[in-house]
Amino acid sequence: MKFFLDTANLDQIRTAQEMGIIDGVTTNPSLMAKEGITGETNILDHYVKICNLVEGDVSAEVISTEYKSMVSEGEKLASLHPQIVVKIPVIAEGIKAIKALTSKDIRTNCTLIFNPGQALLAAKAGASYVSPFIGRLDDIGQDGMELIHQLVHIFDVYGMTTEIIAASIRNTSHILQCMDSGAHVATCPLDAITGLLNHPLTEAGLEKFLSDHRRLNG
Ligand code: E4P
Repeated sequence: MKFFLDTANLDQIRTAQEMGIIDGVTTNPSLMAKEGITGETNILDHYVKICNLVEGDVSAEVISTEYKSMVSEGEKLASLHPQIVVKIPVIAEGIKAIKALTSKDIRTNCTLIFNPGQALLAAKAGASYVSPFIGRLDDIGQDGMELIHQLVHIFDVYGMTTEIIAASIRNTSHILQCMDSGAHVATCPLDAITGLLNHPLTEAGLEKFLSDHRRLNG
């Protein structure tokens, strides 16, 4: 399973890249706002900075909600850097925009997926990725992981080449379940990924190794 870092924070992207644990980055307008990136020029510059830091795909989301402007915004984003994947919301105009961008060889990530039908339509339109949101489904009392299991099964049965990015991941347990589900990618906050390293027996074992060494060597 590939890991994307779900952030627009350059320090976190640098850290994860240096550890060699990520295959790309996803952003959204809220994550950009969290970093205080405002104004079109600064936003576009920031996407280029991310691309220059990370090896792999970088999802940059359109703000438009109307077909023609989504396509022109997508073309502009894609022209910034070959690593850019244009993120498009799963609305009717968005599906049409995915079809148009795909025909121009521009890769897309269809976002805000909350049911299998939305994902299937995005895949049929040619999306490179679909992003089902686990955490936000959990937040309303539904089972986000169940959607990932359904999509892995459906895409397998119908031989879809679109990759499934498990998104809206809130914790390390979500990642472990994604690894088990067959999701192609999990896009996660950095602390959820590094949480995979934690195990009490690792900590206790390391402390014992070091104290045995200190006992004999001072
Ligand atoms: C990534 O593509 C999504 O935009 C992101 O994972 C959403 O996460 P959230 O539900 O925690 O905002």
